[in-house]
Amino acid sequence: MGVRSFLKKKMDQHGGPVGLARHAVAKATKGAASADRSADPDPAVQIKEAIARLPKEPDENGYHAVAPSSLLKEGERNTFKVGDIPIACFRIDGRIYVIDDECAHENGPLGEGTVDGFIVTCPYHDWRYDVRNGDCLTDPQRHLSCFAVAEHDGYIWVGGKTREGSASRGGEHDDGLVTRDINER
Ligand code: FES
Repeated sequence: MGVRSFLKKKMDQHGGPVGLARHAVAKATKGAASADRSADPDPAVQIKEAIARLPKEPDENGYHAVAPSSLLKEGERNTFKVGDIPIACFRIDGRIYVIDDECAHENGPLGEGTVDGFIVTCPYHDWRYDVRNGDCLTDPQRHLSCFAVAEHDGYIWVGGKTREGSASRGGEHDDGLVTRDINER
């Protein structure tokens, strides 16, 4: 069938040229809506899906993939997990630093803290830590664990501890905040 014959047939089916144009627009709109549904715009869902697609096997150094590199851009911080352990990751001046996510005071999430230079401030009661070595600037007896980290093949990979954190945890005051269970994250 030639092009003219094909168009004539379609116009007859849809009631003339205007009807055919309406049909074409409706079809295109339906396609776009369908495409939108397949890409969930919720960042939390996108992160969850990206984490679910991580390599399951450790790399040649025994490090585990914790996140795609794209989830930690320059100047950003985030909480990921290595196994069941939450870790706070920071990308500062092109380098990645990984420390315990749980604040030595009352387990506040340091991956949600405020970063100034190499210092992260806990969002709960403002205890401060150096992300380069886990030192606690607020209480020198309460340093955090640090972890080996590498980046390759589009992922951030975390290895064993390079420094063991202080075992001492817990605050003295009752501020109404509930110590968080790591399994809730
Ligand atoms: S939980 Fe971090 S300062 Fe209190």
